[in-house]
Amino acid sequence: MARIGLLTGGGDCPGLNAAIRAIVRSGLRGGHSLLGFRRGWAGVLEGDALELTRESTANLLPRGGTILGTSRTNPFAEGGTPNPKGLAGAEAVHDALARVQVDALIAIGGEDTLGVALRLHDAGVPIVGVPKTIDNDLGGTDATIGFHTAVQIVTDAIDRLHTTAESHNRVMVLEVMGRHAGWIAAHAGIAGGADAILVPERPFDVEEVCAHLRRRHESGRDFSIVVVAEGATPREGTLPIRGDQPVTRAAPTDAFGHARLGGIGVVLESEIEARTGFETRVTILGHVQRGGTPVAFDRVLATRLGVAAVAAAAAGRFGCMVALRGTGIVELPLAEALAEPKLLEDELYETAELFFG
Ligand code: F6P
Repeated sequence: MARIGLLTGGGDCPGLNAAIRAIVRSGLRGGHSLLGFRRGWAGVLEGDALELTRESTANLLPRGGTILGTSRTNPFAEGGTPNPKGLAGAEAVHDALARVQVDALIAIGGEDTLGVALRLHDAGVPIVGVPKTIDNDLGGTDATIGFHTAVQIVTDAIDRLHTTAESHNRVMVLEVMGRHAGWIAAHAGIAGGADAILVPERPFDVEEVCAHLRRRHESGRDFSIVVVAEGATPREGTLPIRGDQPVTRAAPTDAFGHARLGGIGVVLESEIEARTGFETRVTILGHVQRGGTPVAFDRVLATRLGVAAVAAAAAGRFGCMVALRGTGIVELPLAEALAEPKLLEDELYETAELFFG
């Protein structure tokens, strides 16, 4: 019987608690004990953990966020503080897990958390990964925990923007999350009937966007919805700003060196209004997309992935990530999942484009 540790790292998302519940319930059923680390890798390094029981993980299915807390702490960050024994990186994690007698660790996270998991696996830490991120940009899995809920939240927002756009004959720009990939923008844009969708994979020319909006309005439509992913960037030389550049903030990058995004929608609002003369408004959905109760799909996905992660950990199949492929759950090497970010398929974007008219 194993002592299984678990953590949630990186940005939170709906469905994390459902995954925690599934890991605890299936772990206990297999006779294992479960230790939850608080605040991602920070809790591992600091030994900040709590025993997880059936009672302490009850009523979690509909609950957003993560009862364990999360952080973007990176055990491999340059200049990170060594632990009291002077250990850092993989050695510090090894030491921390040995102190609490954890035999196997399940890390629920996106590219950063699972990137750390891969480095730790390479250094001999027994670890299994579970994919989550509303951005859905992790390789190896058809969907990540949280993505479908974010798409639903954005779709609901587009529906609401439609009625006010129509009433005021305005262009509504909706900025959504999506750092490297436009999955949320494309899915919600299709579901909500967006008239233009701008994604990181396809640098845009604002003049082409405006020409498209003018054509729409000339053909009798008197409002438009433009969905833009936060990581969308203007085509070289078409606008002086880039969506992937940090804006002026006290902490412009996180512990993994990622710029804090947000603001491309504001630029588009003023550019579209100035170039077309159409009254334009921007809405930035931001962290609303990561909050609240998960949709049924995410609860089921989180439950299946949690159960599969415990099975992998209990059988000693470390260094893998559990994933959704088609309708089944599979295990694949973490290295394979992390090799490339999963970008938007052309077919999906081309389907969305058919409805831009
Ligand atoms: O990683 C998912 C994500 O939602 C990105 O789309 C976004 O850029 C980032 O998290 C923002 O996270 P935070 O503000 O929590 O650092």
